[in-house]
This record gives sequence, structure tokens and C-alpha cells, in this order.
Amino acid sequence: MDPLRNPFSPGAGSPPPELAGREIIVENARIALGRTIRGRSSQSQILLGLRGTGKTVLLNEIEGLAEAENYLTSFVEAPENKSLAEMLYPLMRQVLRKLSTIEKARVYANAALSGLRNFASAFKVSVGEVEIGVASTPGSADSGNLEFDLTEMFILIGKTAQAAQRGWVLLIDEVQYLKEEELAAIIVAVHRVSQKSLPVIVVAAGLPQIAKLSGDAKSYSERLFSYPSVGALEIPAANSAIRNPLNNEGVEIDDDALAMIIQMTSGYPFFIQEWGHHAWNVAQTSPITLKDVTKASELALNRLDDGFFKVRMDRLTGAEADYVQAMASLGSGPYKSTDVADTLNKEPSALGPRRASIINKGMIYSPSYGEVDFTVPLFDDFLRRHFGC
Ligand SMILES: Nc1ncnc2c1ncn2[C@@H]1O[C@H](COP(=O)(O)OP(=O)(O)OP(=O)(O)O)[C@@H](O)[C@H]1O
Ligand SMILES: [Mg+2]
Repeated sequence: MDPLRNPFSPGAGSPPPELAGREIIVENARIALGRTIRGRSSQSQILLGLRGTGKTVLLNEIEGLAEAENYLTSFVEAPENKSLAEMLYPLMRQVLRKLSTIEKARVYANAALSGLRNFASAFKVSVGEVEIGVASTPGSADSGNLEFDLTEMFILIGKTAQAAQRGWVLLIDEVQYLKEEELAAIIVAVHRVSQKSLPVIVVAAGLPQIAKLSGDAKSYSERLFSYPSVGALEIPAANSAIRNPLNNEGVEIDDDALAMIIQMTSGYPFFIQEWGHHAWNVAQTSPITLKDVTKASELALNRLDDGFFKVRMDRLTGAEADYVQAMASLGSGPYKSTDVADTLNKEPSALGPRRASIINKGMIYSPSYGEVDFTVPLFDDFLRRHFGC
């Protein structure tokens, strides 16, 4: 059928034609945003899910809700190799500059900008011309301790936003790339602004690593954050994710053809878009049949093997590739680290660094102590298909 009218959108962060099965997550975020901006207690959120389950799409959706609720929004993807201070500085500056144009908030905004200048110099963030003119206030966000200074900045921004009758939401994608002390600093900062009923909230998303927090940050995070899990879609939602976009284009799909898509994709959002996309292109006319989906599956798998899966495999060293192949040879996950070590004829402790490096690359994660699993759904199938492991 006409590729120009193909409604499906495979791709990182591409908004799907139907945001299926996420009603509860979206509604809870809407309530949390609505409460926070009214000075009521609420929970910040960290969405946890595997690759391609729709976390970035949800963050974008939540950003849209926040804008409708009168929030200023800052969206950032945690980079693998940059400090949190460097990453947050331009965002905090931008928010404060916007708020400083509002008469009632100007005094607060200036105090906050001066704190921000100290923050930048305490964390050696290079700043532009603009801040040079801002007077420095000794003692404000200048201790060099990230937990203290970030907390101070969140409070300064929160007070400014409150004076302007606005709110601030910080959206952080790929949160697993933050260092433990950076994540802890955010959690402690959120704790303080929420105690002061300031209109600041954090919504983050990342891979489901086991919590790497300790101490105060951990106990705060258990109370202050909710951790909605973003997984494969249940069958009815997966059906709607395919059928509704087709129906909106006046196209039908046979029940057995739809069932095959659900079975091949296991309900994973990214794969659903990929299969829907190919099924549309293969079919000559409505309805889409089982034969169309059979052909589409071949195309979709080829494209995943050459793209989605291959790109990830190419990031691994030879020894790391051996490790993940050993995992796949054991069937589907999660896998005990000791079993993987046995397969490779090594002591588990000798494999610790290799395992950690693959975790850092975001390819595998540890769902619970002593276990590993793939962050990319169906990756084990791919490895068995390609390497016969
Ligand atoms: N609820 C949904 N229903 C149908 N399709 C969806 C849904 N959510 C996301 N998708 C589709 O899934 C794909 C992946 O979405 P997204 O990039 O948000 O995933 P992600 O979890 O952020 O992945 P990664 O961990 O690789 O960044 C996109 O093509 C998107 O259109
Ligand atoms: Mg993403």
C-alpha cells in the first residue's frame, strides 16, 4: 500500500501513531504534575524499561502534559561521558532566564542566577559572556559538594518558579548513565524541594539496573520516587497498537495476521512499529493477510539484524561478544553469572570486569543479584540465529 500513508513509526523516540497501553503511567504523571505545581506532595518518577519499550516517547508525552500545566520544562539525555553539573548548567540557566522576564519573579531569578554562577565555577563548567555581569553571592551553591549545591540550585529555581506561578520539570533520559553520586544528588535535591512544597519535579527514564543507591539517597528515593515499569504491551494493547492506526487509514487486518505480529514481536513497542511498517508496505490491498505478515516478518527480521541488533553487537569487543553468546547459548534469560562463567570455562570472579563493561555499554543489566539479562528484547534469538550459539 502507499508508503506515504504508512502510519507506523519505528525509530528511537518517534511518537507512535497510538500510544497503546500506557494510560496508567500517563495518568499518574499527570496527577503528580498537577499536585506539584499546586504545592501538594507528590512523587517524582523514574520509568524503567528495556531498550525500545517506549521510555523516550513517554518522557516526551509527559513533557507535553507539563507544558499544558504551565511548567517550564528541561529535557536532557544523560550523556555517557559528561558530568551532571555540565549537563544541567545550561538548562538551569535557560529556565532562570525565562523566569527572569516575569516581573514578580525577577528578584528571585537574579539571586538564583548568581547562585548558578557560583555553581558553574565550583564545578568548573565553562560559562558564556552572559554570567560575567551577574554579581556573585558568596555562600550560595558554591561548596563544591554536588549534593549541597544542586539542592541549593533546585531550591533557588523552585522559589523563582513559585514566585512566577510556574513550575519546573526536569526530564532526564538514559538515567543509567549518571554516576551514583550524581543520581544521589538529584534525589537529595528533590527531597528538599518537596519538603518545601516548591513546584519542582523530576521525571527520568532508563534501563532497569538494580538500584545503585545507598544511604540517605536510597531511603529518600524509596519514598519520593515511583518507578513505573515500561515493558512489553499486554495483548489487547498490542492489538490496538496495530489495529487502530490501520483503521484510521481505512485499512483492515485479518485476525490471524494480527496474531502473528503479536507473537513475533512479543508485544515490544519498537518491534510492533517495525512489523506494522513492513506489513503495510508488503500488502497490496486491505485487509492485510497472514501471507503479507509472513513476508513482512522476513523483512523486519532482516532489518533488525542489520540495524538494531548489529549496531549493538558492533559496540562489543571480541571477549564481550563471547560473553553475550555464552548467555544466549543458555536459552532465554535471566542468566546466572555463574552459569555464564561455566559455559566459558572461567571463574565467575575473573569475568567480573568484562560483565561490568558490557553493563556500562547498556547491553546487559543485572535484574537481581548474581543474574544478568539482555537490555534488548529478543537479542538472545538474534545471537542464536547468527552465531549458532
Ligand atoms: N505505547 C506504545 N505503543 C506503540 N508503539 C510505541 C509505544 N511506545 C513507543 N512505541 C514505539 O516504540 C519505539 C521505541 O520507542 P522509544 O524510543 O521511546 O523507546 P525507548 O524505551 O526510549 O528505547 P531506548 O531504551 O532504546 O532509548 C518507537 O518506534 C515508538 O514509536
Ligand atoms: Mg530512549
